[in-house]
Amino acid sequence: MATPTVETVECDILIIGGGMSGCGAAFESKFWGSDLRVVIAEKAVIERSGATGEGLSAINCYMGQRYGWNTPEDFVNYVVNDMMGLAREDLVYDVGRHVDSSVHLLEEWGLPIWKKDDGSYERIGRWQIPIHGESIKPVTAEPARKAVGQENIYERVSITHLITDANDPNRIAGAVGFGVREDKLYVFKARAVIITTGGASNVFRPRSVNEGIGRTWYSVFATGSAYGLMIPIGTEMTQMEHRFVPTRFKDGYGPVGMWFQYFHARVTNALGEDYTVTRDDELDKFPPYGRAVPTPTPLRNHQMFLDIQAGLGPMYMRTEEAMQKLAEGDPEKMNKVREEAWEDFLDMTIAQALTWASQNIEPEVTPSEVNLAEPYIMGSHSGEAGAWVSGPEDLAPPEYFWGYNKMTTIRGLFAAGDGVGAAPHKFSSGSFTEGRLAAKAAVNFIRDNGETPTVNDEQVRQLHQSIWAPLDTFETHKGASTAEGVNPNYITPSDALVRLQKIMDEYAGGASAWYTTNGPTLERGIALIEMLREDLAHLGARNRHELLRCWEVVHRTWVGEAHMRHLLHRQETRWPGYYYRADYPNLDDANWRVFVNSTFDAASNKWNLRTRPYLNVVTSI
Ligand code: FAD
Ligand code: ADX
Repeated sequence: MATPTVETVECDILIIGGGMSGCGAAFESKFWGSDLRVVIAEKAVIERSGATGEGLSAINCYMGQRYGWNTPEDFVNYVVNDMMGLAREDLVYDVGRHVDSSVHLLEEWGLPIWKKDDGSYERIGRWQIPIHGESIKPVTAEPARKAVGQENIYERVSITHLITDANDPNRIAGAVGFGVREDKLYVFKARAVIITTGGASNVFRPRSVNEGIGRTWYSVFATGSAYGLMIPIGTEMTQMEHRFVPTRFKDGYGPVGMWFQYFHARVTNALGEDYTVTRDDELDKFPPYGRAVPTPTPLRNHQMFLDIQAGLGPMYMRTEEAMQKLAEGDPEKMNKVREEAWEDFLDMTIAQALTWASQNIEPEVTPSEVNLAEPYIMGSHSGEAGAWVSGPEDLAPPEYFWGYNKMTTIRGLFAAGDGVGAAPHKFSSGSFTEGRLAAKAAVNFIRDNGETPTVNDEQVRQLHQSIWAPLDTFETHKGASTAEGVNPNYITPSDALVRLQKIMDEYAGGASAWYTTNGPTLERGIALIEMLREDLAHLGARNRHELLRCWEVVHRTWVGEAHMRHLLHRQETRWPGYYYRADYPNLDDANWRVFVNSTFDAASNKWNLRTRPYLNVVTSI
């Protein structure tokens, strides 16, 4: 293995991740700070990276204010109810009031949005508009690339650690990482850093096995880096116990939103019953959120889950019923409906179209199985894990405000998209918007704080050594056994990942545990994950590709541990259908309508869990 060279990059703003929020941040930071050097560090290539790399079929966050559809206040009401009482109203409102202009910008840049004959946007649901979205990512990336300039985009560079000021552990100073295609280590020195590295898939054991491994709903490249980078330096996190369990087409993981809202399909069980009808009474058990319209996402899951638990599956999305109804017996209309049905997946989750093809499914004739997937930890969809950030100055109460919008509790460190907690339902457009807002605030931060942080070169040297260590470990010890994958001196990244997923699945309420856990089970899981974290110091990598996998599993393990510690702290079941605390089976608004926050202290290797108050800013829910 060659000795890596070291490249030092000095900049004003470092954007880590060039996904939806990263591209928004890049574009906006150059708008407000044309004199600043803005750099993107991205582990892939921004035209196809991140959760939208495969394409999308809809913009899921759009107010439609110019059509009088919704106000940002409506949006906050919806989000708070969908989260069953817990979302930062200031942050959600901030996205809501700016997101439409972002969508219009994306359209100007070339995103094809479905239109009616009168030129207005088509709608799917209250907040969703359909797009021909296969190319949403290149459409978003091109202006970002142009804005910062090719020479400032460091692609195929995976960031492994953040670094703080040599004299102030509470002030960001930059980041370190390595080139995934060359023997190179990087140190980025920056006056402000924006974390936009997406959510976390594959922390829990997925339902896919062996030949299907790697098929998950959220992007397999969403490796929890936003959390895995921020937690170790002591950034305050919020709602890390929260997760999203998506109802998905079985095995292909095709999303269901378009089917429920645009095609108006039902899901029925083996007896032909619709759980939204037969399990309607269940909603009364979770006041005041149970009767919100639409039914909160976890409760929709919960109703279906009760059917599955009762042995009433398979559950079928009645595509055939819905399509026949829409076509009204007219072959021309059916052609259009069929085209839309296939496009929904070909635009976004091609594997689902392949599943249909491989199982001889004609959706206008045959229904398709749906199931509850494994949990995902994320902050941009129907999940709200992430950093505890400052709100906007005109809205946030003092408890939620410390100077700069979207700044974390580490000075100069900003977050956006999946990285921001308690601000869900942003999706692609809202994440892009939040990136823009974070960038504007980061420019202001730099204008107000002239200093350049001091980087401790010895710390960087040590981090570089540890980044490269798995390659050295493998080289040193590979002869100790006849099979490279089995060795007394190292653990491979794939084995580490499987071990993490087994712990999460069995102790933290994964799919095989029927999303159920309790205090003692979590305590045991935490003990096991602490041991895993220790063993990760002995990862071995055969090549640079595996080195990337090593650091991804390190980040995912931070996510898993934070998730379990937060689950343990919250003594209630607030989101049935996402997870169940068997020892605290009820929603407890009187005691637990609060945010659960944590910080990790590296010096003592201890976590500090606490709660933060819920403050109504927009709603009176
Ligand atoms: P991402 O867009 O995922 O960006 C994260 C970026 O960080 C990536 O470029 C990644 O490569 C990079 N990165 C990660 N780790 C590192 C590291 N360590 N170092 C350097 N770079 C790193 N939204 C909608 O609005 N409509 C839809 O129809 C829709 N459908 C979806 C369907 C699927 C299958 C999926 C997966 C998502 C869908 N979404 C949809 C949600 C949307 O994609 C996300 O909400 C959005 O992309 C989140 O933005 P982000 O910037 O936080 O993360
Ligand atoms: S996607 O992002 O992967 O496409 P999905 O298809 O589940 O996700 O959801 C798309 C949008 O539809 C989201 O805004 C989601 O909250 C919403 N949605 C999904 N199912 C329903 C439903 N039954 N009722 C109301 N909204 C729904």
